[in-house]
Amino acid sequence: MKPEQDAVGRAMLDFLESRGGCELVERDDGTIEPSGGPEIYFSDPSSWSPEALEALSHVRGRVLDVGCGAGRVALFLQDRGHEVVGVDLSPGAVEVSKRRGVKDARVMSVTQVGPELGTFDTIVMFGNNFGLMANGRRARWLLRKFHRMTSKSGRIVAESLDPYRTTEERHLAYHRLNRRRGRMGGQVRIRARYQHYRTPWFDYLLVSESEMRGLLEGTPWCLEKTLTSGEPTYFAVIEKSKT
Ligand SMILES: C[S@@+](CC[C@H](N)C(=O)[O-])C[C@H]1O[C@@H](n2cnc3c(N)ncnc32)[C@H](O)[C@@H]1O
Repeated sequence: MKPEQDAVGRAMLDFLESRGGCELVERDDGTIEPSGGPEIYFSDPSSWSPEALEALSHVRGRVLDVGCGAGRVALFLQDRGHEVVGVDLSPGAVEVSKRRGVKDARVMSVTQVGPELGTFDTIVMFGNNFGLMANGRRARWLLRKFHRMTSKSGRIVAESLDPYRTTEERHLAYHRLNRRRGRMGGQVRIRARYQHYRTPWFDYLLVSESEMRGLLEGTPWCLEKTLTSGEPTYFAVIEKSKT
């Protein structure tokens, strides 16, 4: 990643050093909105929802935190005795994670993780990071890869946002546009922006629970449990199929 592409990391570094840091997300239909970060990426467990905390109670053993950001989940789990490896595409995010105490954080894309990282008991994808599955094809490829990287009772604990739980016409129109383009409704094409920093455009996959079930079909994983507080976001505990 070129330095001027690390919008996410730069915003986190500025936030860490009390210099602001309002990250924007731009969608390919021209919508630009604050992402909620970096504040949320630094948030304290005391402000997390009961569902988030319950989802984390399903974490077992050695953990891979995919897209660890500023390390809030990795730190929470480390404090509870888990060995955690955090990976993030953003060098700035990894620097922030390390400065905040994450013992093992590495600059790496979700597409680059593999057996050289060792075997994990749980893969965590918080902050809507099920979205890093990007599209149906990549989701099935990553799910097979995650299966090989995890122990016999391995699991994925992921957060997603159901894109259809909205009445806002601009979002509903975007879902229709996506379907016309042969994409899933919530397959958003976005980039993060901060000051003059811009990430490259990338696909982020927002799925409903039934779409998540559909993606898992034919993979060696099944959706064991979902936790939702009635918000559009929900947490999924995904386990290895018993067969
Ligand atoms: C919404 S933030 C979530 C951060 C953290 N998981 C949390 O819950 O606070 C998304 C993170 O995913 C990272 N990311 C984006 N694309 C990625 C990729 N292809 N591989 C790994 N991390 C990625 C971003 O740099 C960012 O830190």
